[in-house]
Amino acid sequence: QSPGLKTYYQDYFPIGVAVSPRALHSDEAKLIRQQFNSLTAENAMKMGPLHPSEDTYYWKDADSIVAFALRNGMRIRGHNLCWHNQAPRWFFTNSAGDTVSKAVLLQRLKAHITAVVSRYKGKIYAWDVVNEVISDKPEEFYRNSEFYRICGEEYIAKAFQYAHEADPDALLFYNDYNEIDPVKREKIYRLVKNLQAAGVPVHGLGLQAHWAINEPSESQLDSTLQRFSELGVQLQITELDISVYPKEHSARKARPADTATTLTREKEDRQAAVYRMCFALFRKYRDVITGVTFWNVSDRHSWLDNFPVRGRKDYPLLFDKNLLPKKAFREVVEF
Ligand code: G3I
Repeated sequence: QSPGLKTYYQDYFPIGVAVSPRALHSDEAKLIRQQFNSLTAENAMKMGPLHPSEDTYYWKDADSIVAFALRNGMRIRGHNLCWHNQAPRWFFTNSAGDTVSKAVLLQRLKAHITAVVSRYKGKIYAWDVVNEVISDKPEEFYRNSEFYRICGEEYIAKAFQYAHEADPDALLFYNDYNEIDPVKREKIYRLVKNLQAAGVPVHGLGLQAHWAINEPSESQLDSTLQRFSELGVQLQITELDISVYPKEHSARKARPADTATTLTREKEDRQAAVYRMCFALFRKYRDVITGVTFWNVSDRHSWLDNFPVRGRKDYPLLFDKNLLPKKAFREVVEF
């Protein structure tokens, strides 16, 4: 029985994985226990699943993930307290169906964050407080979300303050994707700098790291980690996967439909080389990187099976559909 990822990296940083309650009740649970020492709820702790209506919280799935982690001596990353995606409609509308005022929305956001962070105080050590508020459009700084339209940028600082009041010991992260793109990278850098300058308790920056066999290059990733390490906050790789389909240069353009839905040897070799390069750089920046989390457990299931092309099987992780280590696993642990 070879040691797990967490053992190979025990002198570097925790190695985590995003899970659903279903995974914890399947044969993936054994692999999770063997390989990882940190968990993130893939969906169970998001605003919609947790807080479907103003007076209703649904804790069962989130609690089951927390219980599994605590039973197995694993850390827990909370994901996420504020996101434009899966934010339930009720947050933004009053009983008459009109859009709420900024004051009402901030009061609802405070109630949500306070209830959630308080419940897991002392159990969840780090929260993705705000997720993906930076726009992918070069000419736009903030994403034009409902939160932004109603509150302006203020909801971002407020979310961090609400979380800090609820659990002063929790590490509070800003989390985003497409962090390799130089334009977006600088906007993310600027956001964190502005929050720090305003005295907002931002302790870390999460790089989602949804990458592919053609991106990032070693120099792109090195430049990104170098730039973000100048912020003076912790960095974490929060949602790592390496799609076997080349990523188009524009963030949102769908990857080319690929007839070969089987994992060809060539794709597997390219993916292994990218994983090797990534982990070599994660080790190089070990003084500032405090965690690396994969998004989903094995190629049996990935969110990429439905994004950006619904139903197109992807093979983005280190373990195959039979939960056996792939070539990429060996490239990551042999250093
Ligand atoms: O739970 C419902 C189920 O009751 C319903 O029958 C079904 C059909 O509509 O939907 C189910 O909810 C789905 C949920 O995943 C759980 O499976 C949502 O439709 C679906 O949109 C949701 O997708 C998740 C996505 O975030 C959107 O929230 C993915 O699983 C999840 O991997 C993905 O993760 C995000 C991170 O949170 C943030 N960074 C990007 C990353 C990838 O999009």
